[in-house]
Amino acid sequence: MSQTPGDPDLSAAGWQKRYDANQTGWDRGEPNPALLQWLKLGALKAGSVYVPGCGLGHEVVELAKRGFEVTAVDFTQSATQSLKQRLLNQGLVAEVLRESVLHYRDAAAFDAVYEQTCLCAIDPKQWTNYEQRLHASLRIGGKLFALFMQTDSPIGPPFHCDLDAMQELFHDCRWRWSDGRFTVDHPSGMKEIAVVLTKKES
Ligand SMILES: C[S@@+](CC[C@H](N)C(=O)[O-])C[C@H]1O[C@@H](n2cnc3c(N)ncnc32)[C@H](O)[C@@H]1O
Repeated sequence: MSQTPGDPDLSAAGWQKRYDANQTGWDRGEPNPALLQWLKLGALKAGSVYVPGCGLGHEVVELAKRGFEVTAVDFTQSATQSLKQRLLNQGLVAEVLRESVLHYRDAAAFDAVYEQTCLCAIDPKQWTNYEQRLHASLRIGGKLFALFMQTDSPIGPPFHCDLDAMQELFHDCRWRWSDGRFTVDHPSGMKEIAVVLTKKES
């Protein structure tokens, strides 16, 4: 993901341009090791999972293979079309929706949300809105599996998800933070902090 000085285009058209220009430095080409770790540990259990800003959706494919009921949302045509085709080719089922995560809210409350580099792709002025939507999309006791991008830069995307700022945003009056956080390498050379948060009753 290249850093854009000035005023980056964070619209669907802006992200589509990045796909068109093959500026997809965020894409691992395979599932994030954090997801595999959470699956191995049994932290992410069978059920419904929402994947906002799914991109090319390696994690969506992995979850669908393992029998999760997956809903993936991204507002670019490239991401949603490519993911739908891959699922089809592999005989897998997942709901893939082309819309903004800042508008999407399913009526059903999910068991889990898998948030991987979508928050850091959104204008920080919209983060409170996004946090509220993630909270509303989970059932009480549902879990948010989050990868907080560490860039240590004021410029984005990706926008730096400082851990203190994340603790303010995902406040402990609404979320229970787990102790077992760990760090994974991002393809861009940066790091992501992997954390599991549980939705409290509010
Ligand atoms: C940095 S990429 C990450 C993609 C994927 N999660 C991954 O880690 O490979 C950010 C993705 O979020 C999508 N995105 C950004 N803002 C969005 C929004 N408001 N609604 C839906 N998708 C959005 C972009 O189209 C892009 O596919």
